Amino acid sequence: MSAWGSKSERVREHVLDLVETMAVGDRIPAERKLAEELDVSRMTLRGVIDDLVREGYLNRRHGSGSYVAEPKIAQPLTMTSFSDDMRLRGFVPSGRTLELVTVAAGARLARRLQVSPTEPVVRALRLRLADDVPMAIETLHVLAALVPGLTADDLEHSSFYDLLAARYGVQLGTGAQVIEPTVTSEEESARLGVPVHSPAFLFERTTRDSAGAVVEFVRSIYRGDRYQLTATLLAPKRRDQDRARSGPAPTIAESHS
Ligand code: GLP
Repeated sequence: MSAWGSKSERVREHVLDLVETMAVGDRIPAERKLAEELDVSRMTLRGVIDDLVREGYLNRRHGSGSYVAEPKIAQPLTMTSFSDDMRLRGFVPSGRTLELVTVAAGARLARRLQVSPTEPVVRALRLRLADDVPMAIETLHVLAALVPGLTADDLEHSSFYDLLAARYGVQLGTGAQVIEPTVTSEEESARLGVPVHSPAFLFERTTRDSAGAVVEFVRSIYRGDRYQLTATLLAPKRRDQDRARSGPAPTIAESHS
């Protein structure tokens, strides 16, 4: 046993090590047996297992025990579509359109899409699945004028990004994404098949076309137990390189409150 950390942290490390050596779907030893082996109370062990279930490492089946869960899907922070992301990982993407309506943008959405508040906008609520398992809920907003004739059915049978390119001739350019931790609401939990208030990621993506016009604003809730975010990190530029290129370093604007 290592000399650092609380009892729970040590138990957590031990159970995670154990999970790593097991296959998806294997049952971990019974709580009573594990607690004895690790010389901790069943309450301590149960707390650790509860955390690991919440974080998506284990699945608990009542009256039967805890089982090793599927590994999380590594979501790279790039502008790919849900369909491509899933295919790259060997899953079959699918989707259900829970709602598709055309509404006036209204003030807030109009600012995001950079149009007038009266501009008609298609709003689609999409349940996204991988191998038939619900993974995310997305609320897509796109200018109605950009996607004439778009139906709920279209979004169930094709990728939206493919439709944009093939049917509407829209070439995607850049995107910006804000990510925040959140928990699922009652409605989201029911749709995703997870307990109420499960951890989740909230993504808000604004995508522009190659000329810089806003194409979509999408609010997505991704299951926190099935996803982890990954990013490629570039080496920071060294300050002496910057100075050599652009003369004296600029002053840093400080704000005081
Ligand atoms: C991701 C993005 C959405 C985008 C969607 C397109 O999920 N968060 O902003 O609309 O991909 O996915 P698809 O082309 O599979 O419909």
